[in-house]
Amino acid sequence: MDRLTCSPRLMIVSDLDHTMVDHHDPENLSILRFNALWEAKYRHDSLLVFSTGRSPVLYKQLRKEKPMLTPDITIMSVGTEITYGNDMVPDEGWVEFLNQKWDRNIVSEETSKFSELTLQSETEQRQHKASFHVKKEKAQEVMKTLSERLANRGLDVKIIYSGRMDLDVLPQGAGKGQALAYLHKKLKDAGKLPKNTLACGDSGNDAELFTIPDVHGVMVKNAQEELLQWHAENAKNNPKIIHATETCAAGILEAIGHFKLGPNISSRDVTDISDSKLDHFDPAYEVVKFYLFFERWRRGEVENTEAYLNNLKSVCSPSGVFVLPSGVEKSLHDCIDKLKDCCGDKKGKQYRVWVDQVFPSQIDSNTWIVKFKKWEQTGEEQQGCLTTVIVSSKDVKATEGLTWVHVHQTWIEGTAQNTRNDWFF
Ligand code: GLC
Ligand code: MG
Repeated sequence: MDRLTCSPRLMIVSDLDHTMVDHHDPENLSILRFNALWEAKYRHDSLLVFSTGRSPVLYKQLRKEKPMLTPDITIMSVGTEITYGNDMVPDEGWVEFLNQKWDRNIVSEETSKFSELTLQSETEQRQHKASFHVKKEKAQEVMKTLSERLANRGLDVKIIYSGRMDLDVLPQGAGKGQALAYLHKKLKDAGKLPKNTLACGDSGNDAELFTIPDVHGVMVKNAQEELLQWHAENAKNNPKIIHATETCAAGILEAIGHFKLGPNISSRDVTDISDSKLDHFDPAYEVVKFYLFFERWRRGEVENTEAYLNNLKSVCSPSGVFVLPSGVEKSLHDCIDKLKDCCGDKKGKQYRVWVDQVFPSQIDSNTWIVKFKKWEQTGEEQQGCLTTVIVSSKDVKATEGLTWVHVHQTWIEGTAQNTRNDWFF
């Protein structure tokens, strides 16, 4: 959060499974649309928060499977664990707060008396979260009796039912909504309360996100019955909460537009990206656009390839250099020529490219250094490079776009590096 010197323009707090992430779309289109919009238009002055029921273990697993951006803040285990930044530094204050009126042993003891409850996997049992599966027909009755018994033993707990099968027992002060309220207070104390907050969700544990004051909310089209029922009973006439007509991340884009929170057209929705010219220099937009072109190029979706290559050459400095992740140095123009070899080579292969954490910084009146992570996914295999690009606005008009002067890439730790020889840009 320290990178922001003033109030974020927009804070998006989104659930992951079936909200940001669509498990029914192997092409991951809606999240990729969101990613392109976020990196081009919001990353530099806004906050991205993921709020998931998953434990850190399952959260990290999901990141390896799906094209997910890196959030500024991660709220995991149904609002019981808050971490900051790429290193996921835990919020110790939150941990201390949740210790009040909580005793995990008593929760284990009392829940074990219910034959209707089956324990979820070990990874999902956390310091402030005990999780079970329960049949839908039994859920209401179990929740009522369990909360009475725990109250009798002096505990103040919250029991949440999600996805028509998951039952979580948490301290009363925990939950996705309370974690968001805590973050709001923290940001406010630092003079950085977001100008707008948009909460996004699909299931029971997301309901309390929509109860936090001044928050806009979107229940994605595919929202679960328990969330829609909560809405019907508690928030029907609240104009700040909508039920989107679009599923998953497409519903988030829809809500940004509906509440007029800022731009909501993703570069992915523009068919001919060479047509979308800006009247000002925008390095982040330029990077997003280039890698979108690159994906379409390799998927064989670009027509008029000669014209494109010539255009690309014209925006690369003739003396420009590309330091490949292998350490080999090449001229940028040679690398553009080499693109002929990979035109359409990923056709029909569920190949996607996205950029994450695009941070431009201006170093003089016409030069920017842009740092970001560039990712490729073919089927289930992901590979990424930390990338630095130097772009210049010297002797060009804004409508022509910036000139690429230097590109430098390094493999991101953990990506299978030497196994492939088809990394082009
Ligand atoms: C995620 C968690 C699970 C939890 C559920 C609902 O699926 O992995 O433990 O019960 O979210 O909150
Ligand atoms: Mg969900």
